[in-house]
Amino acid sequence: MAKLKVAVLISGRGSNLQALIDACARPEFPAEIVLTISNRADAPGLARAAAANIPAIVIEHGQGDEREAFEAALTEAIAAHEAELICLAGFMRLLTATFVERWRNRLINIHPSLLPAFPGINVHARVLEAGVRFSGCTVHFVRAEMDDGPIIVQGAVPVLADDDEDGLAARVLAVEHRCYPLALRLIAEGRVRVAGLHVTIDDGGQRAPPPILNPPDDIVG
Ligand code: GRF
Repeated sequence: MAKLKVAVLISGRGSNLQALIDACARPEFPAEIVLTISNRADAPGLARAAAANIPAIVIEHGQGDEREAFEAALTEAIAAHEAELICLAGFMRLLTATFVERWRNRLINIHPSLLPAFPGINVHARVLEAGVRFSGCTVHFVRAEMDDGPIIVQGAVPVLADDDEDGLAARVLAVEHRCYPLALRLIAEGRVRVAGLHVTIDDGGQRAPPPILNPPDDIVG
């Protein structure tokens, strides 16, 4: 079967991009990355794409009026590479409602919290401040509101008594690197259906809820 063609949008480090590159390198994986786009020329993630022989381009942007031009350039590049799905992976730029609607249910994002809790930035500091016992990550379809949209996969990570921001971020990131390839695989296999706010996953003919990696023991089963 033809592989799903994916464009990955980054702004920085690109460790989630790397997790997707590694997953797509497996012959049986049902998706391939046809393009990486960064909105920053100095994004270290660009080198990861280059090392994997994936076309990597920079589309920079200014303020205000240039937003349309920026998204037109994105659209053109994505169309030129015939990408069918866009994965945001640490892409630190808000997309307009017009762009998001055009890519409805074909545009996904990873966020380092258990959404809808803790959208936005400085997530781990806010998680620690709030005193919650669990955090994690979420892969979701993108909607016009920031860090909002139907949940495809989540990963849970306990918050430890002596956690600091870096320690928590590192443990969440390790789970992100498992969740994003899983979400991409489920979509590429055609098993993900969106109905309103909810996603269901085809599981041998049955509709199952979105997977959660590392569920806390007490809620298993
Ligand atoms: C990740 O924590 C991701 O959840 C968030 O931005 C970070 C990107 O990290 N959206 P990387 O560039 O993938 O290493």
